[in-house]
Amino acid sequence: MSARSLDRRVYLRSHPLLFGLISATRPLGAVWVGRTLLVHDAEVYREILTNVPLDREAEGTTGGAALQLGGGGVLFDQAGDEHREARRSLAADLGAEGVSRVRPIWQGVIERGLTQLPGPVDLVPLAKEIAGATACALTGCATEPLVLAEATVEAASNAAGEHLPRLWGHRRVALRALRAADALSALLPDPLDAMLAVAAVNTTLAALPRAAAWCARAELWDQISPELTSELLRVTAPTPILPRVAAAGATIRLGDRRFRIRAGDRLILVARHAAEAHRDTARNERTAAQAVFGAGPHACPGANLARAQLTDFLTALVPHRPEVRKAVAARGTALPGYAKLVMAGSRV
Ligand code: HEM
Repeated sequence: MSARSLDRRVYLRSHPLLFGLISATRPLGAVWVGRTLLVHDAEVYREILTNVPLDREAEGTTGGAALQLGGGGVLFDQAGDEHREARRSLAADLGAEGVSRVRPIWQGVIERGLTQLPGPVDLVPLAKEIAGATACALTGCATEPLVLAEATVEAASNAAGEHLPRLWGHRRVALRALRAADALSALLPDPLDAMLAVAAVNTTLAALPRAAAWCARAELWDQISPELTSELLRVTAPTPILPRVAAAGATIRLGDRRFRIRAGDRLILVARHAAEAHRDTARNERTAAQAVFGAGPHACPGANLARAQLTDFLTALVPHRPEVRKAVAARGTALPGYAKLVMAGSRV
């Protein structure tokens, strides 16, 4: 199976109906489904994230979920001066100096975790530990990295599950989400720290194994570089959709079509298609690579850290040129990823 087919399976299996609908409507660029606008086109995606006023606290959006999880004031749900101030306070931790400070920590986890190679190793728990150790370092959390990582995975998957359309089980799902949020806040009482850990761990856990599997299947071990890292993030698009709600009216153009958005309309922004993940070569490489991390004032502040970490992870795998031995897609997680990804050195 090719790298693209293997990865597509992970993506489609996580939420088959939702991603099936999204794949089917891609050729339209943008399309209304009731009062929900599905947006695939890169320019419309960027325009909405940059210029359309968004209701950052609306239910069913990333900000709404963050608000519920952290209790408010956690970036995703903020706007204006309050948001700018919160971003400034995070800049030192996630800027070049902050990244150099935490880098030796994740490098240590990678080195220890790969000592089993060329024998088989499951990259999913390793990615969880890398992400957990990084989140502990960023937030000053003294808990075991795997314990923190598990708590953030539970919190995110339950929060995402709560917002998916379902016919029954609402109360049970809401209770589970509440319990997961409480468990996380027992480890990280500061809501901003808790949200940072959720944002960092879930994306890393999705990104690292998928990129490694892609490298193995496409035989890219000779080409590992920061440029390949960006390209792998583009084709895997770890956060494939950004659910948002318009806070005010706006008109968006796509060719000769016009989309009149009203306050309260739902916007499903398909980062995967804005990043042209479905194409082997993006028409606009820079814009496509950035689309994976969003756009405008809320664009991901952890992008440089994520890129550095993925490059280190893949570089550490190079000497073993591992192959995929067993790949099991995860179900019900907040982001598409693997439940198990066993790789082994190609000579074992
Ligand atoms: C492959 C890894 C990652 C991907 C694909 C990713 C993607 C994204 C995306 C798409 C957004 C929303 C942007 C928007 O609304 O325009 C976002 C926001 C955010 N990300 Fe990441 N992210 C990654 C890793 C990280 C890491 C490692 C951290 C922290 C260390 C982080 C922290 C955040 C935070 C705090 C926000 C909220 C920003 C705000 O609302 O102002 N992310 N990320």
